[in-house]
Amino acid sequence: METTLIILKPDAVQRGLMGRIISRFEDKGMQVVGARMMQISGDLAARHYESHQGKPFYEGLVAFMTGSPVLVLALRGVGAIAICRKMMGATFGSNADPGTIRGDFGVSNSFNLIHGSDSPEAAERELGLFFADGEVLDWSRASEGWIYDMSGEKPE
Ligand code: RTP
Ligand code: MG
Repeated sequence: METTLIILKPDAVQRGLMGRIISRFEDKGMQVVGARMMQISGDLAARHYESHQGKPFYEGLVAFMTGSPVLVLALRGVGAIAICRKMMGATFGSNADPGTIRGDFGVSNSFNLIHGSDSPEAAERELGLFFADGEVLDWSRASEGWIYDMSGEKPE
């Protein structure tokens, strides 16, 4: 099982898309193991996006991400990191494929609705930035045995 860090960005919250985006992940079989509504500070945004510091879009990105509340989620599943990235779609709304979150709900390249960790290392780092110990919950889902085939050694 992998856990990934998802942020429903300020545009998703302001446009009232939180429920519909969460539903897509739940419908797919992702388990919500953490949820936190917050307004990201400049310091936290800088740490989260430290790999983008110095790039031309960095200042605008931080202003966008800190300007209005976000919903931060921890989602769990087998291969959750890659599955969620695929469901998010390409970075820019203008060329994200239909059927993806960015492709279906937005057209902007800057206001692209959602962040998702892009590797296991990033997920671990980002989960640590946004959730304190004990805020990501290991809870057992009643439907688990119908979401995965649990008859073997690992969920399939
Ligand atoms: P994210 O980190 O938010 O999940 O998005 P991503 O992996 O698809 O894209 P990334 O390359 O990590 O860029 C982070 C965010 O910066 C903004 N961006 N703007 N104008 C530009 O050229 C540009 N490039 C990136 C986007 O908001 C992107 O989500
Ligand atoms: Mg990224």
